[in-house]
Amino acid sequence: MNKKIESLQQKREEALLGGGATRIESQHKKGKLTARERLHFLLDEGSFEEIGMFVTHRSTDFGMEKERYAGDGVITGYGTVNGRLIYVFSQDFTVFGGSLSETQAEKICKIMDMAIKNGAPVIGLNDSGGARIQEGVVSLGGYADIFYKNTMASGVIPQLSAIMGPCAGGAVYSPAITDFVLMVENTSYMFVTGPNVVKTVTHEEVTSEELGGAGTHATKSGVTHFACTNEIEAIDHVKQLLSYMPQNCEEQTPALVYEGSDELRPQLNDIMPENNSQPYDIREVIHQVIDDSSFLEVHKDFAENIVIGFARLAGRSIGIVANQPAFLAGVLDIHSSTKAARFVRFCDCFNIPLLVFEDVPGFLPGIDQEWNAIITNGAKLLYAFCEATVPRITVITRKAYGGAYDVMNSKHIGADMNYAWPTAEIAVMGAKGAAEIIFKREITAAEDPNAKWLEKEKEYSDIFANPYRAAERGFIDEVIEPAETRGKLIKAFKMLENKVVNNPRKKHGNIPL
Ligand code: HXC
Repeated sequence: MNKKIESLQQKREEALLGGGATRIESQHKKGKLTARERLHFLLDEGSFEEIGMFVTHRSTDFGMEKERYAGDGVITGYGTVNGRLIYVFSQDFTVFGGSLSETQAEKICKIMDMAIKNGAPVIGLNDSGGARIQEGVVSLGGYADIFYKNTMASGVIPQLSAIMGPCAGGAVYSPAITDFVLMVENTSYMFVTGPNVVKTVTHEEVTSEELGGAGTHATKSGVTHFACTNEIEAIDHVKQLLSYMPQNCEEQTPALVYEGSDELRPQLNDIMPENNSQPYDIREVIHQVIDDSSFLEVHKDFAENIVIGFARLAGRSIGIVANQPAFLAGVLDIHSSTKAARFVRFCDCFNIPLLVFEDVPGFLPGIDQEWNAIITNGAKLLYAFCEATVPRITVITRKAYGGAYDVMNSKHIGADMNYAWPTAEIAVMGAKGAAEIIFKREITAAEDPNAKWLEKEKEYSDIFANPYRAAERGFIDEVIEPAETRGKLIKAFKMLENKVVNNPRKKHGNIPL
């Protein structure tokens, strides 16, 4: 008996070493943690239970039968993060560069199945050279199995992907299907075809970091939601993200204890500049309204004209979508629309109420925007809000012009409560442009066309550049002092806690992708 236990212990010890001490050292030299070290930092102490420690590949080509490592390049299992169950896989670069074999794919699919059955998030820690080259098509099949599971799990359980090393070729599509992608600066990259192929095909010379590093994907492509300075920061972000989410689509995010206090925020009364063309940072409004230091901004450096992120209001998790007047005047364009649309859909999947701050002059005009389909892309955000059934509240702080008024969670598309500050301007367009169009003849015929234009602009502005026309129609439920915003929102979200909306039965909608 003792011998058998000793043998088990020895096997375990070998498995813990992955591809061996030399490769672990090489991993450290690259500034990277090992797969097991990452799990150590992610999970509550002593909570990890490994599944499939002794799984090895079945490949016999190229002498592979002589090279087998327990676990086959991925560590899978379950554990807890802040006391809540999660399933996790962590690719081990020390074993065949973490490359995906048939058996590695089976291990990943197995824990995904368990996660779906038991209703808990899946966290992927990716660090892999891609398809196991020695296995050929079997490995490709393994990837496809994972993509399929990712898709089936989408909207059922949260899925988070932390990219800790290479992630290239078709391998990128699993993280891309998951809900949030995190990358680490300088040690991780993602691309469909690497610099060498790019050079051959397009003659462009580019480094891996420039082509698909964290900075690139955080600012240019939007593929990653977070660019972290190191692995520990990435893991901390994963934990933080999880805290705003429920375990699955049938549950609510646990609320933090909140003991009410004075909810007035007098500073908000001074936030709006006198001149309505002057920018201000919408984050200042967000911070005044939400619980202290509770904002986790998502996609911070991508499409900065819209700010999205998670926060807490009176201890409850909410998702925030806010036009950012400090960047491109908060205009809606292709990237900001798709960025916000995906976030709205995530929140709706997982019962996270939505709070919208609106200060938008309209959609961005231009050939580039039209040719790249601002029509289709703007429609994504519109569609996402229309179909969302979670509690939805909008606060119009200043401009709500044109189609953007409709899109940004207006009453007409199902928002539950719509507030406006007295500084709100709700109209088809800005007064200057409106006057030019509807009073064109009078302006041209006038002795002093400029003076006439100004006069007509003021006339239009007096009638429409305020929230009261909309309030008279009931499109705005209440015009509120900015200082009252937090208190009003807390009460309104509480009032909406048991909201039930059943959209018409369908197989699934056809969002304009
Ligand atoms: C098998 C692999 C491997 C792979 C790396 N290794 N990638 N083994 N299949 N895909 C092994 C190496 O042989 C080496 O083994 C160890 O992992 C570490 O690799 P190094 O090259 O020494 O590491 P490094 O210098 O850090 O370079 C990392 C790398 C490079 C950039 C990822 O290994 C590389 O270019 N790998 C191939 C990438 C690739 O072309 N993959 C297929 C992409 S196509 P030893 O024994 O020396 O430790 C694809 C299609 C997916 O993935 C399609 C899905 C639909």
